[in-house]
Amino acid sequence: MASFPRPRRLRATPALRDLVAETVVRPQQLVLPLFVKEGISTPVPIASMPGVVQHTVDSLVREVDEALAVGVRTVILFGVTDERDEDGSLACRADFVLERAIAALVARFATDVTVVADLCLDEYTTHGHCGVLDAAGRVDNDATLVRYQALAVALASAGVHFVGPSGMMDHQVAAIREALDAHGFDDVGILAYAAKYASALYGPFRDAVEVEIAGGGDRASYQQDPRNRREAWREVDLDVAEGADLVMVKPASFYLDVLSDVAERSPVPVLAYQVSGEYSMIVAASANGWLDRRLAVLESLVAIRRAGADGILTYFAKEAAPWLR
Ligand code: PBG
Repeated sequence: MASFPRPRRLRATPALRDLVAETVVRPQQLVLPLFVKEGISTPVPIASMPGVVQHTVDSLVREVDEALAVGVRTVILFGVTDERDEDGSLACRADFVLERAIAALVARFATDVTVVADLCLDEYTTHGHCGVLDAAGRVDNDATLVRYQALAVALASAGVHFVGPSGMMDHQVAAIREALDAHGFDDVGILAYAAKYASALYGPFRDAVEVEIAGGGDRASYQQDPRNRREAWREVDLDVAEGADLVMVKPASFYLDVLSDVAERSPVPVLAYQVSGEYSMIVAASANGWLDRRLAVLESLVAIRRAGADGILTYFAKEAAPWLR
């Protein structure tokens, strides 16, 4: 046989494959999203996200304890409540479940676990939009910024380390930075949902936080159009200029091209959110025996890292961490 290049030589043994592997996923690069609900006494399963629950504050602390034990050191919290109003103001109360959860985690783990709180209004508004509405029923960008500022200060007062504005209002990062600084919270960081697309993959999440958008509406007037790639650069540039400490691309696996662009261009670290629909697709296909759950999860995380994410928000964080050690 003639002599020719043989790339297979480097794939011959596990030791060689490990030697030349370009991409590594470590537990501490994973961020675990968690739901905490007002007014429940035991955790409530989320039907469309098997294995994920709405937590009580106590069960949340236990879950974070277990996550930390396998090396996951960052969590992002979402509040859930049956009690809603027009402008989501209830989420600003010091005795609301989100603030109590933050305080409990910080009391228990101090800075061993970085606590991020999603900062948005859809979980707390009657109409289910991420902002407040004007008289014509449209999402009012600038009136929403004022609500975000109040929520940022409330979350910071509870002790949160980072806030994650996910509402895609223009100028939200600058408004929140200004409010935090004005109240002496210059050490509280901002994880900006910078390139966030209007995605069908958020379906199961809306069960998790029990959100239904009034009148069968959608978020297309504020979240990005999936047809657009270039626009992500603009959103990231703006958020970085406004003071974002970290930027995020969301969803992850359908948007690896966007993630790759952002990772190349961003001067700050880039996270990607493997969202509820990405989770549930793998879980459902595995439950049917159509995919090997462990292999599919690991490959999905590697792919997101390979595309350029420094860290990954994933509901698989606690499950996958032991596989990565
Ligand atoms: C908005 C928000 C959403 C998610 C995170 N923050 C839903 C939306 O924009 O409709 C989705 C996360 C997921 O699907 O896992 N507060």
